[in-house]
Amino acid sequence: MRNLVILVSGTGSLLQALIDDAARGKVFQISCVISDNANCAALQRARAAGIEAIDIPTLNITKDQWQQTLRDTVLAKQPDLVVSAGFMRIIKSDLFEVVPTINAHPSLLPLFPGANAVADALAAGVEKTGASIHYVDHGVDSGKLISQREVPILAGDSIAVLHERIKQVERDQLVEVVVKLCQQSDLWAGIANG
Ligand code: GAR
Repeated sequence: MRNLVILVSGTGSLLQALIDDAARGKVFQISCVISDNANCAALQRARAAGIEAIDIPTLNITKDQWQQTLRDTVLAKQPDLVVSAGFMRIIKSDLFEVVPTINAHPSLLPLFPGANAVADALAAGVEKTGASIHYVDHGVDSGKLISQREVPILAGDSIAVLHERIKQVERDQLVEVVVKLCQQSDLWAGIANG
């Protein structure tokens, strides 16, 4: 059984997909959910599922101290895999070099990295966007790709409508990638047929 730590900032629907699969399967368990936002719904979802939920406040602490606290809190759980699932901060420690760390991102990277990927795709007028899962590295959404799925942009799409269509794809995609990675002996190796 693989041990996962999940990083979140928002609604936590991707987290919920992982919680639901962990309850069904025997491949991974979630030992802890960590957030920069004490009030986010994702932490409530973790608590409702009986999973330890930790927030690391950003007030009264330097950015470096916050990054160090995040690193130490994650590593104390001895995870096999760290999943950034709607976590809106860049990891600036060596955490992703110590433990395989993956991130879900709502675009077809390398297009539209950053915090506004859905709005940026709409503004660019492209016909399709999508969902990417990649290893975290030093850059912003720049690490090695593991999986990509396309999502069409439809006439009249708002940011919210398009983002929800992408998230429907992301939930399945993330569970599939996490299960496949966890079934491998080497979690750094990526997966075939992402
Ligand atoms: C997802 O679309 C995820 O790809 C995105 O936040 C959403 C989280 O949804 N992450 C980023 O944009 C990171 N740059 P959720 O809170 O409902 O799981």
